[in-house]
Amino acid sequence: MTAPKKLFIKTYGCQMNVYDSERMAEALGGQGYVSTEVAEEADMILLNTCHIREKAAEKVYSELGRLKPLKALNPDLRIGVAGCVAQAEGAEIMRRQPAVDLVVGPQSYHRLPQMEARVRAGQTALDTDFPEEDKFEVLKTRPKAKRAPAAFLTVQEGCDKFCAFCVVPYTRGAEVSRPVERILTEARDLVARGVREITLLGQNVNAYHGAGPDGSDHSLAQLIWALNEIDGLERIRFTTSHPNDMTDELIEAHRDCAKLMPYLHLPVQSGADRILKRMNRGHTVQEYLRLVERIRAARPDLILSSDFIVGFPEETEAEFQATLDLVEEVTFGYAYSFKYSTRPGTPAAERAQVDPVAADDRLQRLQALITRQQQAVQLSMVGRDLSVLVEKPGREAGQMVGKSEYLHAVHIEDCDAAVGDLVPVRITEAKRNSLAATKR
Ligand code: SAH
Ligand code: SF4
Ligand code: F3S
Repeated sequence: MTAPKKLFIKTYGCQMNVYDSERMAEALGGQGYVSTEVAEEADMILLNTCHIREKAAEKVYSELGRLKPLKALNPDLRIGVAGCVAQAEGAEIMRRQPAVDLVVGPQSYHRLPQMEARVRAGQTALDTDFPEEDKFEVLKTRPKAKRAPAAFLTVQEGCDKFCAFCVVPYTRGAEVSRPVERILTEARDLVARGVREITLLGQNVNAYHGAGPDGSDHSLAQLIWALNEIDGLERIRFTTSHPNDMTDELIEAHRDCAKLMPYLHLPVQSGADRILKRMNRGHTVQEYLRLVERIRAARPDLILSSDFIVGFPEETEAEFQATLDLVEEVTFGYAYSFKYSTRPGTPAAERAQVDPVAADDRLQRLQALITRQQQAVQLSMVGRDLSVLVEKPGREAGQMVGKSEYLHAVHIEDCDAAVGDLVPVRITEAKRNSLAATKR
């Protein structure tokens, strides 16, 4: 028997890429590949890439440069680029780095088996189509292997919002929602394989409008209520939400659906109305604040997180200050902040750029404030009774590690629970990046 071929995938970018990488590994599993964590022993290396900021895209080329010499050591090695850089740059990638054999966009990776056969035959393969067939359906035969207790499930892809800074509508295409039944089937399958928590994914997940069993469109809230019926599924999350698609029924689900976790990623990007408008976000600061109020009225303990861009073209110091004010007013449990990065082909790329030194300075000030809030929120967990979904053993003897309802990493001391158990705990201490707890 010949040894199985080995596949090494490196994943960049958002959770949708994490999900896609799993699916690509499954697609190539059918071609006899087993996964490896060691690039040096791989017969196929796939970089699943992100195009959201310039740095993310450039990282791919430096990684390709590092990987190229491996081809001299293993003549069977093939190198592929998948994901959003593949979609945005296509054949240009092979021109810039001839060591690349295969380029596959996020909507075509179900065709990987055929592409793999081509590159094995010594050819190159390029596919950045938005094909008619449903990639999720083509890939539906999944292996029955056991899974980690928390899983991602993509329910919606693409984006029609066209924020002025963003490449996603170009790399992922128009918004498409998967039908309810197919999502339920995939969720039941995940649960049968040991999954207890599912995070529903979409670039605009709360704009979900998939076909229900009766053919009519179902909202994300309806989908959540349908998932709520699955025995053995204990926790539901969703990300990323756009403020304008945060409907009353979804807010009510946060109040009424016990399996829906009290955590919401609701990016606002800026605290200045003029900048929000220039970003094409479609709402004002007041509208965002009112929305937060309504969400907190429905679910007072809910933790909010957000994304911010600083140094968006034309942003003044006063407008940046307004972003700090918004953060002070809302209080986020987590937040991700980025310096604006010019993306060719997007409307904002043509506008007057902010001085990079000023943008760096703003980023540091915002991050300092966010870190303070994050630590205060962590600290406020001490003494509380929470529940933890155990994901793995901790570093120290007897310790198990998992996530609370609020997505904090929690170390449970002297814990005899197994991976996949939901453990009632009392939080005893807030550490830098995690919480310590004892079993109740
Ligand atoms: N759909 C999500 C965002 C997906 S991209 C939403 O609407 O919020 C994730 C984050 O990357 C964005 O929220 C934004 O903060 C950041 N981002 C996107 N484009 C960027 C750019 N050109 N420069 C800097 N940050 C960017
Ligand atoms: Fe990008 Fe805006 Fe769409 Fe989010 S909503 S993916 S930021 S265009
Ligand atoms: Fe990046 Fe594409 Fe996700 S650009 S953030 S990998 S959708």
